[in-house]
Amino acid sequence: MKYPSPYLTVAVIGLLFSLASSASHTHDHEHFLQCLQLQNSTSISEVVYTPSNSSYSSILQFSIQNHRFLSKTTPKPLVIVTPLHASHVQATIICSQLHGLQIRTRSGGHDFEGVSYISQVPFVIIDLINYRNIEVDAETRTAWVQAGATIGELYYSISKKSKTLAFPAGVCPSVGVGGHFSGGGYGYLMRKYGLAADNIIDAHMVDVKGRFLDREAMGEDLFWAIRGGGGANFGVILAWKVKLVPVPPTVTVFRVERTLEQNATMLVMKWQNMASKLHEDLAIRLVLTTKAKFEALFLGGKDKLIPLMQERFPELGLVKEDCTEMSWIESTVYMVGSSSKSLQVLLQRTPSPPQSYKGKSDYLKHPIPESGLEGIWQIFKENGEKAAFMELFPYGGIMDQIPQSKLPFPHRSGNLCFVGYLDSWDQQGRDEVAQKQIKWITRIYSYMEPFASNSPRAAYLNYRDLDIGVNNIGYTSYEQASLWGLKYFKNNFNRLANVKTKVDPLNFFRYEQSIPSLVSKSSI
Ligand SMILES: Cc1cc2nc3c(=O)[nH]c(=O)nc-3n(C[C@H](O)[C@H](O)[C@H](O)COP(=O)(O)OP(=O)(O)OC[C@H]3O[C@@H](n4cnc5c(N)ncnc54)[C@H](O)[C@@H]3O)c2cc1C
Ligand SMILES: *[C@@H]1O[C@H](CO)[C@@H](O)[C@H](O)[C@H]1NC(C)=O
Ligand SMILES: *[C@@H]1O[C@H](CO)[C@@H](O)[C@H](O)[C@H]1NC(C)=O
Ligand SMILES: *[C@@H]1O[C@H](CO)[C@@H](O)[C@H](O)[C@H]1NC(C)=O
Repeated sequence: MKYPSPYLTVAVIGLLFSLASSASHTHDHEHFLQCLQLQNSTSISEVVYTPSNSSYSSILQFSIQNHRFLSKTTPKPLVIVTPLHASHVQATIICSQLHGLQIRTRSGGHDFEGVSYISQVPFVIIDLINYRNIEVDAETRTAWVQAGATIGELYYSISKKSKTLAFPAGVCPSVGVGGHFSGGGYGYLMRKYGLAADNIIDAHMVDVKGRFLDREAMGEDLFWAIRGGGGANFGVILAWKVKLVPVPPTVTVFRVERTLEQNATMLVMKWQNMASKLHEDLAIRLVLTTKAKFEALFLGGKDKLIPLMQERFPELGLVKEDCTEMSWIESTVYMVGSSSKSLQVLLQRTPSPPQSYKGKSDYLKHPIPESGLEGIWQIFKENGEKAAFMELFPYGGIMDQIPQSKLPFPHRSGNLCFVGYLDSWDQQGRDEVAQKQIKWITRIYSYMEPFASNSPRAAYLNYRDLDIGVNNIGYTSYEQASLWGLKYFKNNFNRLANVKTKVDPLNFFRYEQSIPSLVSKSSI
């Protein structure tokens, strides 16, 4: 008799396996749904979506901000839960563990690598899209903001209560506070007030045991860890209490562009030597393409800004006509760069036009030399008219005064600037376009290596980049995770691993770049 072909055997076994595993997934997920019902949580059935529900796809897709992950082949969750109460989150965490499902938590959905809604193992999404109340108290200068709110919604709510209070967070209004604050969060107020994470004074979260915790109950170690260490490592953040910061009623903005013929190279050289040493009331962000664009926020009027620029950066030739005075909230709309001046821009949860993108990050401790800049212009020229850019965000100011260990975010003094690389494209289902653009950003990142920080080459958690290293699907050692962990967290990585070991020893909350538990392999 003939033996069956080995290929056939493999195929049959493969088929059996996939049948078995899909059957057991259905099985898991039915039990998971029953489990949810049995938990003591008010009307959870109204916030549970399975693939057979006609709203499943629209809810899933709504916060997929990166269209690279909108494809058919992107792994989909077995269930999406859109909590309205803490009890919905508690039930989901408990039942996921009982039924062998992973959790992905999503607030604004801006993760560069889609980590908040993609998993290679069967999973459930906790989507905080409806968990987004904001309460601003102008008197105590504080606000409670639920994790599913966006920074634009927060800015907008603050402006309804006060014209002279603000919050130091990011530029793009649709970014969610759940991910953004728990990874750091920088914007134009960073040089004066630090990161969003530096201004958090309390938090509500649910841990792996399903316990509801505030700052007091979680303790200072865990409270430290969730402010910059990535909240998803430790549980699900429900809300942040933040300290609002004072701003003058009038601020000034400008945006000026200089081509190579207009001495862009010299201006960038000058900027690198000066931007991090300027008064903390002035932040000049530099955006490089085949040109140099200088975008700035000054906490004061034109009459003060012009002489300051004359003294510190006369080469730019800034004149009154380049500058516009406005309120701080109007400046947040201005920085979006859309044609609309309406504050409604702050409330849009999805940026338009929708795009696919890939980002990377660096820190500069020394200026890029002139010869280095020549190469950068060249690489941008080769990319043609694509929507790629490199942004240089100046450090200094209060960032120099905050100790590296105050929060998990370690990039403080000694940095001239942060460098973000963002390449975006209109994919329209064509993988070749994506591959070409990813290749381009990889090229500029490798070109920048000699100029960037080293040992380790530092990176910013909120600009998630899976190219710098990932965990195994199963057990990952501390050493292996250090590959990417030291880049994001430097010396704070070890403390993060210790907190992780204490609060989630069995490593339930895990993903491609989750902090490893130090519990030995055999006990997991
Ligand atoms: C267009 C664009 C502009 C940006 N501009 C800036 C900027 O100006 N400044 C800046 O600092 N960054 C900026 N970023 C980066 C941004 O800060 C991060 O992508 C941030 O993590 C997004 O948060 P999110 O809630 O929208 O993302 P999500 O994709 O929802 O989450 C990101 C990560 O946080 C986790 N997470 C989300 N919510 C929770 C929660 N409630 N509890 C626990 N874990 C949670 C997720 O699981 C995931 O790991 C920008 C990103 C984009 C795409
Ligand atoms: C169930 O929830 C209600 C209301 O949230 C609460 O009062 C009650 O103590 C809970 N019971 C249990 C057994 O957890
Ligand atoms: C979809 O799920 C929601 C929330 O659980 C529920 O209210 C709705 O009735 C479901 N719709 C369909 C068509 O199943
Ligand atoms: C460029 O710099 C040179 C030398 O500093 C100067 O003479 C020239 O006017 C500048 N050109 C422009 C367009 O600013």
